Amino acid sequence: MDFDRLIEKRSIAQLMEEFPISGDFFRNANIPLTDTHKTLQEVLSTLDDEWFYEFGQNRFEVHNQLVDFLQDMTASENAQAIKSLTVIGGKNKRGEDENARFTLMPGDVVSVVGPTGSGKSRLLADIECLAQGDTPTRRHILVDGQPVTDDVRFALGGKLVAQLSQNMNFVMDLTVQEFLEMHAGSLGAGQGPLPMAGVVNACFEKANSLAGEKFTPGTKVTMLSGGQSRALMIADCAYMSQSPIVLIDEIENAGVDRRKAIDLLARREKIVLISTHDPLLALGATHRIVIKHGGIYRVLTTSPEEKSSMKELERVDAMLADARRKLRSGERIASL
Ligand SMILES: Nc1ncnc2c1ncn2[C@@H]1O[C@H](COP(=O)(O)OP(=O)(O)O)[C@@H](O)[C@H]1O
Ligand SMILES: [Mg+2]
Repeated sequence: MDFDRLIEKRSIAQLMEEFPISGDFFRNANIPLTDTHKTLQEVLSTLDDEWFYEFGQNRFEVHNQLVDFLQDMTASENAQAIKSLTVIGGKNKRGEDENARFTLMPGDVVSVVGPTGSGKSRLLADIECLAQGDTPTRRHILVDGQPVTDDVRFALGGKLVAQLSQNMNFVMDLTVQEFLEMHAGSLGAGQGPLPMAGVVNACFEKANSLAGEKFTPGTKVTMLSGGQSRALMIADCAYMSQSPIVLIDEIENAGVDRRKAIDLLARREKIVLISTHDPLLALGATHRIVIKHGGIYRVLTTSPEEKSSMKELERVDAMLADARRKLRSGERIASL
């Protein structure tokens, strides 16, 4: 990742949102966090030489120190990084050739659309298992342009792909805080310089901002509503999971701010595939794969016209959400 440019362009607040760990750098370096809408350079230029003397800093070094810091902190993520994922078509349910081949890069958000039973989940499953012509679809998945050998497939299994599914079950009776600490711990947080509290808090705050109804760190995960648990899983996926590929099978009607969730995942430089019947999610993606009779029928890039039609769809969506809320709480619906 080009941290040099990111630090130049992003405000401190944006940096702290994208890389919660950068907050620790700013605090350790005593950088005042009063004007976080400014870039680091802008904030440094408001500080006089005396300030730099007092805190033993060099005006010209802070930027590079932050670059090094972020590079170190994200190094373990980079270890798992992949450059591309290629899907090579096989056969649809009628035995006809799919004639499809496309390549996805980190940051791509792809929706998968098609009628129920058409094969959306199957496509996600092919990617999850890194199919090599050995699934019912006969598809091949390449990683960085190469077929995946059995050894690699086994070694990568689980690490490459994180899956968010319709039926999420928490088996253990943990609080949200404990759940996140457990995950942060397995990431290596709390050992060495990666502070546990920073990662856990950032993840919790984000989960809560995605959830329709708010919850506290002390809430038991088994008591979360469907929407809350999905919000938690999405934030967990973005902050704790090192998997470069995220598969999401139908998260609609889930009480989650879906657009925010997808934006979050895309900004974490992951390849996101999301099967959906929701027009807003489908158009919010950069590309969409249309599935028909078990085969990849078309791969479309979302057009500027489609993007601009989202405003109107969002208005209608908000109206429906409002009506749903009113009906649920026993209110009457005024005539429109
Ligand atoms: N190309 C294919 N060849 C054979 N079976 C397929 C193919 N694509 C999908 N299927 C099967 O069709 C069924 C429905 O697919 P599924 O992915 O669950 O649909 P969806 O998620 O769109 O509702 C599944 O049993 C799946 O394994
Ligand atoms: Mg399905």
